[in-house]
Amino acid sequence: MSQFDYPVIKKSVPTFYFIGVTTGKSSIIKVFPSWMQVLGRTEVVIEGIDCKIHDDAQVYRRAVAQIKYDPNSLGALVTTHKIDLLNAARDMFEYLDPYATITGEISSISKLDGRLEGHAKDPLTSGASLDAIVEPGYFGKTQGQVLCFGAGGSGVATLLHLINKKDRADRPAKFTFVNRSQGRLEHARAMVSTLKTDIQVEYICSSDPVANDSIMEKFPPHSIVINATGMGKDTPGSPITWNGKFPLDSIAWEFNYRGELDFMHQALAQAASRKVKVEDGWIYFVHGWTQVVAQVLHFDLTPELFTKLNTAASSVRGK
Ligand SMILES: NC(=O)c1ccc[n+]([C@@H]2O[C@H](COP(=O)([O-])OP(=O)(O)OC[C@H]3O[C@@H](n4cnc5c(N)ncnc54)[C@H](OP(=O)(O)O)[C@@H]3O)[C@@H](O)[C@H]2O)c1
Repeated sequence: MSQFDYPVIKKSVPTFYFIGVTTGKSSIIKVFPSWMQVLGRTEVVIEGIDCKIHDDAQVYRRAVAQIKYDPNSLGALVTTHKIDLLNAARDMFEYLDPYATITGEISSISKLDGRLEGHAKDPLTSGASLDAIVEPGYFGKTQGQVLCFGAGGSGVATLLHLINKKDRADRPAKFTFVNRSQGRLEHARAMVSTLKTDIQVEYICSSDPVANDSIMEKFPPHSIVINATGMGKDTPGSPITWNGKFPLDSIAWEFNYRGELDFMHQALAQAASRKVKVEDGWIYFVHGWTQVVAQVLHFDLTPELFTKLNTAASSVRGK
C-alpha cells in the first residue's frame, strides 16, 4: 500500500481530526479552539470525519491514509469506530501501544519521527475519571462492587484500569458486566483470561430492563453502577426501568454528558432516598480529549496544564 492508493488532500493548516458519527454535535468543536489558545497553538484546527457505524473498511483506510501521508494532518481522536478502524487499517500503523494490542482498539492516531502510532487511551482516561470520582482505598473501605451495563470499549477499559490497580483496596472484589449480546461478553472474557487478576468478573447477557433492575437490586451498598451502553444518547432509553433500585450509598456513573441521559435522571431521582451520588461523563470527556490532544501535539500533560484545560472546557460548556 502506498500514499498513491488514496486521495490524500494537502492541508494548508495543521489539522487535528475527530473521527466519529455526529462529530459536529460534540462540545469539542467549541472547546478545541479555547484549548489551542491555552496551549499557544491557535494555528491548529479541528475537523470532524463522520463515518457510519461499522462503515466500510475503505472509509477507515482513507481517513488513516490522510493522516499518514499529509504532513499537515497531525492525528486524530477516534470514537465509536475504535475497533472497526483498527481492524481495517492495522497494517498502516508502525506502532501500537500495549493497551491497543490487548484491547484491539485505538482512540488516538498520532505521528512521531515518521511513524504512524495508535494508542488505546480509554484505560487511562476512564481510569483517571474514576480516580476523580472515588477516593483512594474506596473498595477496601466500603466493600462496594462494580456493576457495568455495557461490555464495549469503555466498559472493558474501566475493568482493565481496576485490574491494574496496585493496592488491593483500590480493586473491587467483583466486577459484573451486563451486556446485550454474548459476543461482547466473550471478547471481554477472552481479554480477562490473558491477565492475572484477583477481581472476580461475572458476565451476564441481558438487555431486559426489568431483569437488569433485579440484577442491580442485589448489589451491596457503596457499589458503582455504570451506564456504558450508550442508551440515553446513542440510542433511546436506559438499561434499567424507573422502578430499579440503586444500591444504598451507591455511585451512579453515566458515561455520557449529552443526550436524554435517562439513566442519570433515574439515579438523580434516588439521590436523596437511597443516597445515590450521581456523575455524568463530562470529566471522562475532558480526560479522554486532553490525553489524545497531548499525544498528537506532543506536549506533557502536567496536572497544572490539565487543570487549565479543564477550566477552559468548563467555561465553554457553561455558555
Ligand atoms: N464521556 C466520554 O468522553 C465518553 C468516553 C467513552 C465512552 N463514552 C460513551 O459511552 C458509551 C459506550 O461507549 P463504548 O465505546 O464502550 O461503546 P460500545 O463499544 O459500542 O459499547 C456499548 C456496549 O453496550 C451494549 N449495550 C447496548 N445496549 C444495551 C443494553 N440495553 N443492555 C446491555 N448492554 C447494552 C452493547 O452491546 P452489543 O454490542 O452486544 O449490542 C455494547 O457492547 C457511548 O455512548 C460513548 O459515547 C463517553
